[in-house]
Amino acid sequence: MKTGPARGRRLSLAAYAMKSPLGAAYSRLRWGPLGKYIWHSRRVAGWTQGEEALALANASYSLTGDAVVVEIGTFMGSSAILLAGPRKLRAGGMVHCVDPFDGSGDPFSAPIYQAALRRSKRPLLEEFRHNIARAGVGDRVSVHVGRGEDVAREWTAPIDLLFLDGDHTYEGILATFHAWMPFLKPGGILAIHTSKPEAYEPGHDGPVRLVAAHIHPPGFEDIRLVTSTTFARKSA
Ligand SMILES: C[S@@+](CC[C@H](N)C(=O)[O-])C[C@H]1O[C@@H](n2cnc3c(N)ncnc32)[C@H](O)[C@@H]1O
Repeated sequence: MKTGPARGRRLSLAAYAMKSPLGAAYSRLRWGPLGKYIWHSRRVAGWTQGEEALALANASYSLTGDAVVVEIGTFMGSSAILLAGPRKLRAGGMVHCVDPFDGSGDPFSAPIYQAALRRSKRPLLEEFRHNIARAGVGDRVSVHVGRGEDVAREWTAPIDLLFLDGDHTYEGILATFHAWMPFLKPGGILAIHTSKPEAYEPGHDGPVRLVAAHIHPPGFEDIRLVTSTTFARKSA
């Protein structure tokens, strides 16, 4: 029987291999054209991984034409690549990344962001731009520096896909939800990260509480949880 540390070593070797060019080839074989962007996303520190990463990329890929995609909470760009890669493949649409890009956030999360920033070679916005350029999706990404609620005040465009992964307090995500929902088109897709029903640290349970309180018929349909992300379609 393998011991814990040996298993850990094997897992980290697998994780390392996935970030290497070998991982790029494997990702292309496994996920087709989306594989390139799943691989690029994995090279960036982030929280949207595994099945939910694929589901998020597929949600963006499912949109046609000049789709408008908005991400609230971008950090270093890992999930932005999952959203923007499919728009590149579709040759249409834009991903709008909304984040203060200063590592701020709810009291539980901010120290985690700050620790990641201390390990980073560049300031956050620079790191984000570097990762987006390396993934080759810069022409499909627009940056909005600020908190979601503030950026919403200037927003006017109808949205096809809205991904919420910013403030994780209930009050914070509720404010974001109310500020942005009027722009989500009927039939548009809402994705909410960190919303798997389980125990969360105090002040980090906003997404799961938001889903429990607001994401249900008749306002929403096709509701499903993938890993820790809830996907739902705004009813027509
Ligand atoms: C969990 S990280 C995002 C991770 C990213 N979606 C991924 O999967 O790689 C949350 C980000 O949201 C930002 N943030 C916190 N509060 C926010 C708010 N009210 N509006 C927009 N972004 C916020 C944080 O500074 C942080 O960069």
